[in-house]
Amino acid sequence: MARIYNFSAGPSMLPEVVLLKAQQEMLDWQGSGMSVMEMSHRGKEFMAIAESMKNDFVELLAIPANYKVLFLQGGATAQFAMIPQNILNGKAKACYANTGAWSTGAIKEAGKYCEVGIAASSEQAGFTTIPDFADWVVDDEAAYLHYTSNETIHGVEFNDVPDAKGLPLVCDMSSNILSRPVDVSRYGLIYAGTQKNMGPSGVTVVIVREDLVGLAPKTVPSVFNYEQQAKSDSMLNTPATYNWYLLGLVLQWLKGEGGVAEIEQRNIRKADKLYQAIDQSSLYSNPVVKECRSRMNIPFVLADANLDKEFLSLAEKNGLGSLKGHRSVGGMRASIYNAMPEAGVDALIAFMAEFERTH
Ligand SMILES: Cc1ncc(COP(=O)(O)O)c(C=O)c1O
Repeated sequence: MARIYNFSAGPSMLPEVVLLKAQQEMLDWQGSGMSVMEMSHRGKEFMAIAESMKNDFVELLAIPANYKVLFLQGGATAQFAMIPQNILNGKAKACYANTGAWSTGAIKEAGKYCEVGIAASSEQAGFTTIPDFADWVVDDEAAYLHYTSNETIHGVEFNDVPDAKGLPLVCDMSSNILSRPVDVSRYGLIYAGTQKNMGPSGVTVVIVREDLVGLAPKTVPSVFNYEQQAKSDSMLNTPATYNWYLLGLVLQWLKGEGGVAEIEQRNIRKADKLYQAIDQSSLYSNPVVKECRSRMNIPFVLADANLDKEFLSLAEKNGLGSLKGHRSVGGMRASIYNAMPEAGVDALIAFMAEFERTH
């Protein structure tokens, strides 16, 4: 069996050692005689799995003690609604930066619950940049300021933290969490789906400062209520047990690799070399302003779009999968999350050079 280099934007590549460990433990988890899938979520075996997963997550991101960490379902998409439901705190307005398709999605959903003030937008620029922080308009009457630290579709990433002017700062880190160190204390709330840098899909991590827990009106359903989820250790209903376990294996792998600081260095190296290859070629180009280019998702177009089909099919034949760009922007996109080995990026660069030479 030959494994490919999978450049999918998510669900995406997982470290091979994680898959092998899961395979090895599939029928019998550490002498328990059970697969993790078969365990009661209240049993001592699963409780041990859940506890070490959570501890590793807290350790890897150095999450301060005054934050609750929740492992929920419904994806980041559910958080688009749960955030206003939980932390509007009686206010009528929230501020959002619009830097791409995912911010736009968050804004649309929030609009069902409150007035949305657009603090900044790069829509006019085709979502290829991040508006200068000095120009952001943050209303001090708003409940919070929301932004998306990495726009998965457009390949735009924040390198700095915006100034929330005293409001709780809320961030969708779905596609760059654990790829670089984060000062969690600057945030009111961080959320991310697991299916890019943390494991398979099915779990959404929410890191929420304690003062933002317990603000939801009584009408908010229990499973959507941060306070009730925090009180029950995210087990208000049966959690996605096997996905928690796989998330735990990915976190152990990351710790073994040297943690977030080390993986960041690799991510910088991988992204730098791919951007360099794109910038030096006359066939490929990336439209994003250099300072805002994502280390995780690297979109590029071919000078002649008629070559797209052949590029993709030849790439597949060379073991380079899922390079098609998002349907809304077209072209190509290489998603190179933590689990993408440097050798995968090297293979892509070599393939691109050969394709350019022969076309
Ligand atoms: C930045 C970002 N936010 C939100 C989402 C939506 O996540 P989910 O499908 O887990 O709800 C995605 C999915 O790709 C994403 O990349």
